[in-house]
Amino acid sequence: MKHLVTAGLLGAMFAAGTIMPMTANADETMDNATVENRKMLMDGIGGAMGTLGCYLKGKCELPEPVLRNLANGIAFAAAAAPSAFEAKTMDASVKTTATDNVWTDWADFSGRFPALKDAALAMAAVAGDKSAMGAAMGDLGKSCKGCHDTYRSK
Ligand code: HEC
Repeated sequence: MKHLVTAGLLGAMFAAGTIMPMTANADETMDNATVENRKMLMDGIGGAMGTLGCYLKGKCELPEPVLRNLANGIAFAAAAAPSAFEAKTMDASVKTTATDNVWTDWADFSGRFPALKDAALAMAAVAGDKSAMGAAMGDLGKSCKGCHDTYRSK
């Protein structure tokens, strides 16, 4: 009987002791997933920009619908970006280049994504017209750089 009580108490203490680390670990796992998700979203945008750049430099021939899809993909990702970035990820242990002002200046940060989306839609609208696409690429690039210069560490 005494043994059972002791075992029970030990079990309870053990369980209580494991709650803290488990919780911290869950936060870390969650925050890491959030960081990976937003990086994947950005990588998708980067990949589409790279392919559009390849076309504009005359290094790859791409049909108009593909060009339009690439631009629309950027617009789609831009629309999804605010919710992907919204969660603060203080417990993340994976590498992130997002700086804290993403969340302290959230209105400015998140307010830049509609501009990115508009620039991407403007690109989609001129898909196939190389000179108009060149100008649209300039606007898109400014949007990326403006935000990265302000909200990313090197
Ligand atoms: C409103 C702000 C904002 C805009 C606009 C923006 N980005 Fe980003 N981008 C970020 C932030 C913040 C990160 C860092 C994410 C992290 O490491 O958690 C990032 C990261 C990236 C990464 C690296 C992802 C990785 O795997 O580490 C690439 C590539 C990228 N952006 C491409 C682009 C391109 C291309 C554009 C423009 C077409 C663009 N971004 C527009 C904020 C922005």
